[in-house]
Amino acid sequence: MKSLVVLLVVAFAVGASAQCKCESMKWATCDGTPCECFLLVGNGEKQPLNCSALIPKCFLMKAEMYRARKGLSRAIGGKPVETAFMDNDGIYDPECESNGLFKAKQCNGTEECWCVNSAGVRRTDKGDKNLKCEELVETHWVRLELKHKETTADVDPAQLKSAIADAIQQRYQLDKKFVSDIQYDKNARLIVVDVKKDIGDRKEDLSRMAYYMEKDVKVLPLFKEEVKFEPSVAGQKLQFENILVYYVDEKAPTFTMQRLTGGVIAVIVVVILAVVAGLVVLYLARRRERAKYEKTQVRELDEIQQSLS
Ligand SMILES: *[C@@H]1O[C@H](CO)[C@@H](O)[C@H](O)[C@H]1NC(C)=O
Ligand SMILES: *[C@@H]1O[C@H](CO)[C@@H](O)[C@H](O)[C@H]1NC(C)=O
Repeated sequence: MKSLVVLLVVAFAVGASAQCKCESMKWATCDGTPCECFLLVGNGEKQPLNCSALIPKCFLMKAEMYRARKGLSRAIGGKPVETAFMDNDGIYDPECESNGLFKAKQCNGTEECWCVNSAGVRRTDKGDKNLKCEELVETHWVRLELKHKETTADVDPAQLKSAIADAIQQRYQLDKKFVSDIQYDKNARLIVVDVKKDIGDRKEDLSRMAYYMEKDVKVLPLFKEEVKFEPSVAGQKLQFENILVYYVDEKAPTFTMQRLTGGVIAVIVVVILAVVAGLVVLYLARRRERAKYEKTQVRELDEIQQSLS
């Protein structure tokens, strides 16, 4: 009887500790009853997590930067509308609000600052630390361009659409009513997924879903079990080889045109120098030509004058 109680207690303890884990974040550490989970986002800086939901992107980016600094893991690295833009800066160490939202102004630990949208993506030019970011502008539309690997059988577009919408709902906990459109190009193996919410909606956060999916395709799943993202279409598992994410904000971004990079400037300078050199050569050649002509004319005149005299 006593041993049975001990056995039960042990079984209960094992069961409880097995349950204390973070489904939505593999790097979390969990402990205690009730179970509490944290994510290390800095030296001794523990961010409490709600593991029943996807973790806010701002916390994830902080944790990734921290892990990259510590050498814990390697953080590797057409537009739907004219105002859509891509995340060309990659990851930085962001400042988060306590609820996981990005602070509107980010500085990357330097004097250089910029404004971000609710997905933490830069939407202004970089400025100095006096830069003003009035508000955090919401990303209300993301376009995911997924390229899948070669398949043995053709993919049925109708089944593909429902498989992707279901995956977004089940895997990324975002109601599939937000999946507004899915297009498929069989030859390019390209699936274009538009996820949109109403302007003014602050309940749903599209950036988490997009970030988890980006990691699923480009690196490894962020989920505890690291189950691969392989939606099954008519019994055939789809694997992905690339993903591009476009962000559309409630207000258009205010970047100026991309500045010319060093390489382009060097090429322009070389071309201008070549043109100038060409012009100089041409000018000299013409001058020599004219001088010769004038000399001949003078000589001819002399001859005429001599014959007259
Ligand atoms: C955690 O997330 C779940 C799912 O989104 C939500 O229902 C719950 O209220 C959240 N818990 C806390 C403490 O915020
Ligand atoms: C932030 O700083 C890191 C390291 O200095 C750099 O690699 C990254 O490109 C910077 N990000 C932005 C948005 O400037």
